[in-house]
Amino acid sequence: MILNLTVLPGDGIGPEVTGQAVSVLQAVADAFGHQLHQQQKLIGGAALTAVNDPLPADTIQACLSSTAVLLGAVGSPGFDHLPNHLRPEAGLLRIRRELGAYANLRPAVFFPALEDCSPLRAEIVRGTDMMIVRELLGGLYFGQPRSIEGEGGAKSAINTMRYSVPEIERIARVAFELAQKRRKKVLSVDKANVLECSRLWREVVTRVAKDYPEVKLAHQYVDSAAMLLVQRPADFDVILTENMFGDILSDQAGGIIGSLGLLASASIGGAVGLYEPVHGSAPDIAGKGIANPLGAILTVAMLLRHSFHLESEAACVEHAVTSVLDKGFRTADLLGKSEKSRKPISTTEMGGHVVEAVKNSAAKTQKEKSA
Ligand code: IPM
Ligand code: MN
Repeated sequence: MILNLTVLPGDGIGPEVTGQAVSVLQAVADAFGHQLHQQQKLIGGAALTAVNDPLPADTIQACLSSTAVLLGAVGSPGFDHLPNHLRPEAGLLRIRRELGAYANLRPAVFFPALEDCSPLRAEIVRGTDMMIVRELLGGLYFGQPRSIEGEGGAKSAINTMRYSVPEIERIARVAFELAQKRRKKVLSVDKANVLECSRLWREVVTRVAKDYPEVKLAHQYVDSAAMLLVQRPADFDVILTENMFGDILSDQAGGIIGSLGLLASASIGGAVGLYEPVHGSAPDIAGKGIANPLGAILTVAMLLRHSFHLESEAACVEHAVTSVLDKGFRTADLLGKSEKSRKPISTTEMGGHVVEAVKNSAAKTQKEKSA
């Protein structure tokens, strides 16, 4: 198969982690007999610096003409003082919209080798395997009107949370379809005791649930869901929620399993899938070669699964990550409570170990086939 890809390294640690993710993808392609065709384009702060636009037209063109897009991270403190449309984040929000990526899948899976990394006790976090389904093109992020007006003490700002029935219905279906292939539970998270948007959300989700009788639906207010997440993370299967709540709860899920640096995501629903690790550009550690590339590498697994339907290849990447963690390789963010004196490995070393593990497991499969 030809794997036609646009890579958007972006800002901060984005280029470092996507570099390793692409090496892993190349190793998988070689091992399974696929051809990787990739072009790299600018987004975010990198694009603002080069052409004063966080999402240049040729980046959009390239993305729309490929089968999938792999993104690193966007965001850079140097642009904090600028209006919204000249900030790096505007590039990310626009590419999500251009690609029609309304469904953001954010799995948070606990790795037994990382028991010591979670701030929670092992018996609490053990068995955690949830899928956050975050609506990605609506809510406060895109609602109109939005503005900041006035001067000084008379300034006021407006954002609008807005959801329509079709927007809720399509994301709800994604959650129920996923739940059918998992533990058949959907928890819909909202703030229906306060927000009209949430009341409509609850109404539509409840109606859609009737088409999936084997899936058990429950509703939870977001404040209470945040508490339950740390109390009983292993109880969660699919969490269905709107854009902003999903943004917040997914970082929390990263904290629970030990590091945000482990979380992958797929933004799908449109013609071209966008694959982005959940962590941001992490300017504090950018350029030091210490960032954890595993979130980006696991994002490659999601890309193989969702855009190319290459399940064995996706599983190969995931097994490779599990095996390097089992062997004890750790980037700085993954040093457990009792290991702070250990020397962590670098971004490229971690990526290299995953590449090795991919090659080994592919060689083993070949041997088994020919035996
Ligand atoms: C994320 C990020 C983005 C978001 C930012 C960078 C716009 O936090 O992907 O979670 O809020 O969606
Ligand atoms: Mn976020």
